[in-house]
Parts: sequence; structure tokens; C-alpha cells
Amino acid sequence: MEESQSLNHNVTFFPFNVTVSVPSGSHLLDAVHTAQLPLPTACGGKGTCGECVVRILEGEHRQKQTAAIPDDLSAKGFVLACQTSIFSDMQVYLPQFEEKAISCLIDNILDKGKAENISGRLRLDPPIIKLDLKLASPSLNDNYSDLKRLEQALVKQTQTRIPKFENEHKCEYEYELSALQKLAAAARASQGRITTVSFVSPDRNTIMDIEPAAPHSKNILGIACDIGTSTVALHIVDLESGKILGTAASINQQIKCGDDIISRIEYSRKPGRLQELQTLVIGTINQLIKKAEESSGVSGQDIYMASFTGNTTMIQMLLACDPAYIREEPYVPTFNRVPMLKSCDLDLDIHPEARVFCSPAVGSYVGGDITAGLLSTPMLRESQDVSLFIDAGTNGELVVGNQDWLMTCACSAGPAFEGGGIQCGMPAMEGAIESIALGHNSGINYQVIGQVKPKGICGSGLVDLMAELFTQGYIDRHGKFIDSKAQSRLIERESGPGFLIEAGTQTFWGNDLIITENDISHLIRTKAAVYAACSLLLKQVGLKFNDIQSVYLAGGFGQNLNIENAIRIGLLPDLERDRFAYIGNSSLLGAYLILLCLENWNMVHELADKMTYIELNTEPTYMNEYTGALFLPHTEMKLFPSVKPD
Ligand code: FES
Repeated sequence: MEESQSLNHNVTFFPFNVTVSVPSGSHLLDAVHTAQLPLPTACGGKGTCGECVVRILEGEHRQKQTAAIPDDLSAKGFVLACQTSIFSDMQVYLPQFEEKAISCLIDNILDKGKAENISGRLRLDPPIIKLDLKLASPSLNDNYSDLKRLEQALVKQTQTRIPKFENEHKCEYEYELSALQKLAAAARASQGRITTVSFVSPDRNTIMDIEPAAPHSKNILGIACDIGTSTVALHIVDLESGKILGTAASINQQIKCGDDIISRIEYSRKPGRLQELQTLVIGTINQLIKKAEESSGVSGQDIYMASFTGNTTMIQMLLACDPAYIREEPYVPTFNRVPMLKSCDLDLDIHPEARVFCSPAVGSYVGGDITAGLLSTPMLRESQDVSLFIDAGTNGELVVGNQDWLMTCACSAGPAFEGGGIQCGMPAMEGAIESIALGHNSGINYQVIGQVKPKGICGSGLVDLMAELFTQGYIDRHGKFIDSKAQSRLIERESGPGFLIEAGTQTFWGNDLIITENDISHLIRTKAAVYAACSLLLKQVGLKFNDIQSVYLAGGFGQNLNIENAIRIGLLPDLERDRFAYIGNSSLLGAYLILLCLENWNMVHELADKMTYIELNTEPTYMNEYTGALFLPHTEMKLFPSVKPD
């Protein structure tokens, strides 16, 4: 016994890939805490809430008899971390943070005839060009250097075949040392036939890579990546066709250091922590690259360009630039425009010379995710009509305007509509209830992503649930349960009364799915923050909601957000329904557009320069707007004439 207690075992947690060493016999939940991973534990380790469920991939362990896991899941290695002890090195998967299926709206937009629905250009003009060249063979009478032969071939080829290089004689070539180091061998491997990969800019071309020409010439690929506070999503794209070859998304591993931007900035203050945050996000990106490579059968070494979008804090953490001043008055970021970088600066698992583009920010709380996201809307095509863009992510960002002017602001919305901080909440992934309708006699109909037993509810489902509870008289305008109506489904829990959505016998994890008054209050605060920011922003420019011709809503709600229900709860203004469009992850689409066409890169900088940033933190009237919106749908019912509660 003494011997086993003196032993330590390494426990590795996926998808974070974090390993901790703990004494033999330790509780698995303690190991999770040692690893500082954010596993929910509503019952405090009593084995009753079912929230701490994990999957054992490998390793000797023992679990208490009381562990309440359905047999089918138990057979697959699922256990409750709080009821399980460790007796060997282990590998453990946290399913709460598994990879996500992302809603890919790109295909919809790329359909023929839909190009006018976005402001960005749908044209293939990436700044990475591949050339197949034939170098002249050297001889004793012709013993120019290999580089001279390469330049001769480039001049010949580009003058005849590449219109972009028509003024080639004025164009300077530069060479990465790593490319030159390959030149001699490449030139001799295939009778002088080589393939070069160049980064093209207006005044010079840089040869990034040289290889012997192969029968199947190498791919020229790029990655488009949106670094969200909660989720990182990525596409591998063929730069020659624009085709998306692979897609992957997962939780941002930084989440173990804090749920939101502010807590992560606080976390970064201690020595070494900023580097830890950088390592975590780059680790997340590299895992996604690997996953997307595996599914598409391509090589990361063929990825020559990366287009990143993200809020200002996420981009500064990606580059390990101190974000502390973002949250201190006067809220100044280190930069808005990020200079072009190389992948080797960041240890990305792609070609080391790959060029890295980050979308420009407008300020501390309006980042490159918003500037790139605007490319995905038609806002910049309008010269008269005024549109409103709302990105309701962990941080809520808004833009109002048209092609002539743009005003923007941000509010602290919180991750509730991405499932964060809500007991039954989860991101829009397999097992999430994405739509809910309450029927007669308190019956509930719902649809689950992936048609499996429900695991939780994503943003679009939470919007539906709130709207149904309110309009059918189960909750009042404060979000409190009306006992006479909700009685048959109310359950008393330690955290207060909860409305039963589905009994544990019918759910994936075997635990009851309930929404509590605390959850509803959290959701009301989130929707109030977004609505109040919209209202204030419009007042700043002398407009009313009715002056807005189009409202574009982005965010991680899920694929099928019900606009009607978003209006019923007061998240969106009560306008004609055909003025609204839900556009999903606009930031990722913006990153993709930048990858495709250099003109989009220029456009995103122009629009960032055009945007005027309003700091809500210093606006005294914001709190009044917010307080007014802390009701369903709002304190002033006349603002929502079409909403008729029971
Ligand atoms: Fe509640 Fe483990 S913490 S079941």
C-alpha cells in the first residue's frame, strides 16, 4: 500500500494534450484540477450531477460502484472523474471539449449568383504563385551559376506566361535562404526541371521554395483560421482552385486559463503566462491543421499562406504581445495593423516560409474578426442604405454604416449563446439541441445536431427555449418561473428551481437537462448587453432601428438560429423579418476571402481605417440602455409591438 502511494503516474488529458504527474490512487478529478482544466462539477464531486464525465483512452483505474453512467457509455470507457481513481499512467479524453462540427456557410455564399451577397471579391488572385521552370543545362562552355540559370528561366517564363509579371524586368527577385539551399540538388534531380513557389508583392517577388519538378506537381495550399475566444476553426484551402480541402474546429485550449478575454488578460500578468497562452493557441491551431491534413490527405509543408482572424486580444496572444493595456484605460492595443509574418516566427506546422496575414483591428475591443467579417456581408456595397452588423460571440461587436461610413463598438456579452456558463449549455456540435418548441400540456419537441440523444443545448436552442418559455407564460418578464404554469416540469435543485427539458433516461450522458432561473438570468444579461449596445450605437449616429435596412447577425449560435425567437426575447430589434440574415462564422469566411485574393487584404485595411470606434466603457448612458433591456423582451414593450406574451 505504502509503495503504491509513493508512486506517481502521468495523466495526459486530450484534446488539450496536457500531462500532469499525480500520486497513485489520486482521484481523476484532482488530476483535472492539477492540470487546471475547466471541467464543470456542479455537484462538487458527489457523483450526482454527471458533469465531470470523461473518457478513459488508456490506463488502469478504479471507479466507485455509485458511478451513474449509462451502461452503453460505460462500455465505451466513459467514467465520472470524481468517482475514479488512478493506478497507472493514463490517457483521458474530455468530451466536453471535443472537436466541433462547424457550420460552413461558405458553400452557400460561393454558389453562383451569390457573390453580390458579400463585399469581398470572389476572385482567385492569391499572392502565392507556383511556376514550373526548365533551367538550361550547365556545361564547360556555359558554367553560369545555378542561380543565374534560375533567373534566366524566371525571366523567360514570366514574360511569356504570367501576365502579372509583364514588367518583369523592373521586378526584383529575392530568395529565402532555405530555398537557395535546395537549388543545386533540385536543378540536377530532374534534368533542370524545377518548381518554384513565390510570394508576390507589387514591387518584388520572393522565391520561398524550390523543388525538383514531380509528375504530380506540388499543391499550393493556404489556411484560413478564425481564432475565437471559445472556438478555433480552420479551413485548408487549395489556392489554385479556391476549394476547401479540409475543415476542423475545436475548443481554444486557452480556455483552461479563463473563459473570457478579461480573465485571460488577468492570467497573462504573471511571468511566463503569456508564453503559455501563446503555446496553447498555437497548439490548438497545429492540432487542427493535423486533423484537416489527415481528412484531406494533403501535407502541411504545401501550406504557403495563413490568414488569421480574431479579436484583438486573441491576435496579441497569438503573437505573445502583452495584452495588459487592452483592459486599462485608455484601452490601447499594441497594434491595429499586424505586419506580415512568417510561419517560422510562430512555430506553425506548415511550410516554415509561409506568409502569415492577420486581419487588422480597429481598437482594443473591435478586432480583425470584425473587419474580416464585414467582407462577408454586403454592407460595403451599399451607398445609401444603412446596415447593422452584429457579432454576438463571447464579446459582442457591432458595426453600423455603409460604403461611405462605418461606426463600431463592443460590449461584454459573455459566452452564454455559445453555451458557456449555462448549466445545460454547449457549443453547436453533435448532441446539441438546436431548436425547441413547447407544445400543449408542457410537451417539448426538439431537434438534436447529429440525431443522437441530447447532450445539451446550443445558442439557437437556448434562444428558442427562452422565447417559448416567455411567450407561452412559463416565465415572467424578469425570467422567473410562473409556478402555476411551469409546475409540472419544475425541479428543485441546489442552485434553485429548474425547468426540466429532458429526463436523464433520454439524454446522452444520463443526466437531466434543465434550465434554471440563474441560467435564464445569465441569458437575459447577455441579450441585454447586445441590444443596449445596438441601441446606443444607433443613437450616436442619430438613427433609429427602423432606419436600418439590413441586419446581419454573426456568431456561434448554431446553423439554424430562429430570428423570430431572437426578436421575442429582445436580442434583436422588432423589425420586418426580411431585413435579417444570420451569417454564422463571418470571421472565418473573411479569413478565407483574404486568402483567395490580395484585393480583399487591401480592402480589409481600408475598411479598418474607415471605422470609427466608440468606447462604451466611458459612455454614461450605456448602463441606462442595458438596464432597460434586462426584461423580456424589454422594459418598454412598445419597442416590441409584435411580441405578444401569453
Ligand atoms: Fe458531479 Fe462528478 S462532479 S458527478
